[in-house]
Amino acid sequence: MKNFIFVSILLALLLTVNAAPFQLNKRVLNFHACLTHGPPYDVLNVRAVPRSPVSGVNVSFTVSGSLTQHVITRHRTLLEIWYQDDVTGDRIPGGTYQEYFTNSANPFTISANVLTPHLPRPRQTTLFVVVGEHSQAHLIPFGCAQSLVDARPGR
Ligand SMILES: *[C@@H]1O[C@H](CO)[C@@H](O)[C@H](O)[C@H]1NC(C)=O
Repeated sequence: MKNFIFVSILLALLLTVNAAPFQLNKRVLNFHACLTHGPPYDVLNVRAVPRSPVSGVNVSFTVSGSLTQHVITRHRTLLEIWYQDDVTGDRIPGGTYQEYFTNSANPFTISANVLTPHLPRPRQTTLFVVVGEHSQAHLIPFGCAQSLVDARPGR
């Protein structure tokens, strides 16, 4: 009996230790203000379902906000969502979503169904949600939010 209890405790400890790295790797999206510099822009509210992106599965985003620095122009202002590989700083291929606004209401709400690209796990990835306009190959943010998708184990 004593041996059985000992083995059970050992087994429970082993299972706990084994489960830890997987839990660290699976992130729940948690959006906050973007950490980019430049002209002022507003913070977006983002709701994501499901809250943990899985490669090859869509995430449904509801993005809302109230712009105080810029004005939305139909067919010119757009919602752009992408995943960034934080090791290279590049966008993850096949992961950029674009949708132009069809009205100029402010405050606004816009929805997007975005296919999650292949994420280079366990590398750290950041998800960017931006409302803005393209100007000479630059995306000028009117509103922005970002969330960590995956962190390196131990972070
Ligand atoms: C997933 O998102 C893509 C891109 O927006 C869309 O074309 C596709 O219909 C969506 N699939 C599902 C099952 O919702």
